[in-house]
Amino acid sequence: MPNTVIIGAQWGDEGKGKVIDILAERTDYIVRYQGGNNAGHTVVIGPDKFVLHLIPSGILHKGKKCVIGNGVVVDPRALLDEIEMLGSKGIEVDGRLFLSETAHVIFPYHKVLDELKEQKKKKIGTTKKGIGPCYADKVARLGIRVVDLLDKDILREKLENNLEDKNAILTKIYNADAFDIEKLYREYLDYGEKMRKYVCDTTVLLHDALKRKKSLLFEGAQGTLLDVDHGTYPFVTSSNATSGGAATGTGVGPNRIDKVIGVVKAYTTRVGEGPFPTEFSDDLMDTIRHKGGEFGATTGRPRRCGWFDSVVVRHSVKINGLDELVVTKLDVLDDLDSIKVCTAYRYNGRIYKDFPADVKVLNGCEPVYEQLPGWKADTTCITSYMKLPKNAKRYLKRMQKILGTKIVLISVGSERRQTFSSE
Ligand code: GDP
Ligand code: IMO
Ligand code: MG
Repeated sequence: MPNTVIIGAQWGDEGKGKVIDILAERTDYIVRYQGGNNAGHTVVIGPDKFVLHLIPSGILHKGKKCVIGNGVVVDPRALLDEIEMLGSKGIEVDGRLFLSETAHVIFPYHKVLDELKEQKKKKIGTTKKGIGPCYADKVARLGIRVVDLLDKDILREKLENNLEDKNAILTKIYNADAFDIEKLYREYLDYGEKMRKYVCDTTVLLHDALKRKKSLLFEGAQGTLLDVDHGTYPFVTSSNATSGGAATGTGVGPNRIDKVIGVVKAYTTRVGEGPFPTEFSDDLMDTIRHKGGEFGATTGRPRRCGWFDSVVVRHSVKINGLDELVVTKLDVLDDLDSIKVCTAYRYNGRIYKDFPADVKVLNGCEPVYEQLPGWKADTTCITSYMKLPKNAKRYLKRMQKILGTKIVLISVGSERRQTFSSE
């Protein structure tokens, strides 16, 4: 398979985990390049459901190599718990999980700072996993990296330096408790020892794989509209969830990437605060939420639901250079009499076909909809495009036309077998 990046083309939870699991079969290396355990990627295999937060979703295929790249922020406790969870289900990661030595480490003070910021009235609705504060330290050049956990002198020095500031902020600004250096130091030194066997220079590893003509599958987390540069700032995550992040987050040059595929739901969801022009304001919110099981895979929060927004996805097509699309959760729309697709926004008498950067426009705009007939039939057992109801095909064709991008794969359920190509 060509070296491929898979990204979420909406606000996350598009079904990337399922798609990665399917494509992993034909790939040698599966690589996470940004985000952390704010991600929740679900893979359903028969009666087993796996939710992966940090380890690439390819891990469920025996023998596949999985890489956590330098662009990821790693909570060691979360990583070790995930390794243990997989082990308890008979999936061994030793010898095929590789952790970048330059990935930044999430500490408990990052989580506490995330939680404290979220108590404010103007919150973002984060996952409270410490993602934002950890990336902030990385950019401020204060961060502690995986390699630092492997050297007791460096860890102590960096932790002392960090705690001096963090404890002052916690106690003086937030009136919260300070962290004890000794306890934290011992805990993280221990994590370092436990993770040591996975740690390596993953850039060298990936370049060596490329030299040996192995194929790479880059697993994006979150989604384009949560990207810190291209999303609905400030209601975004703190990393580049778009395809560009695959290069910076791994050290593999963009010219080694052959293809970029975007995953979209047949409708739209978002978790947390921030603008969402096509959000349902009626009973459909509850109907789709329950039919689609739209509750966060990481935090369990109910996801906000709305109609398919092609202004959002056209933005994604551009930003990521999408070559192809995968449409998931088509089955969730099975019972509807009619289905709307947003083709543009209207604000103050002006029509926006391109995604506006101004949050004021996004909050105040009125979506311009096109209405299509529903298909009112169960699609969950369908195994080929030809067998889809006529109106389901019409919906997909219209989507493809509006987006100007080919739909290559369609998903009608969470299981592997509930997937077929558009041919
Ligand atoms: P990710 O973060 O993009 O990997 O997506 P999540 O795992 O957070 O959320 C997607 C949810 O939808 C999971 O519960 C999947 O099992 C489920 N899912 C994936 N594809 C389909 C589909 O085609 N139909 C239905 N009904 N569920 C799906
Ligand atoms: P996957 O990979 C959906 C959202 C949070 C919040 C914002 C910032 O499963 O698609 P953060 O904790 O990252 O600082 O929160 O981003 N968010 C996600 N929403 N899917 C995700 O990941 C998300 N990861 C973060 O809800 O709005
Ligand atoms: Mg998810």
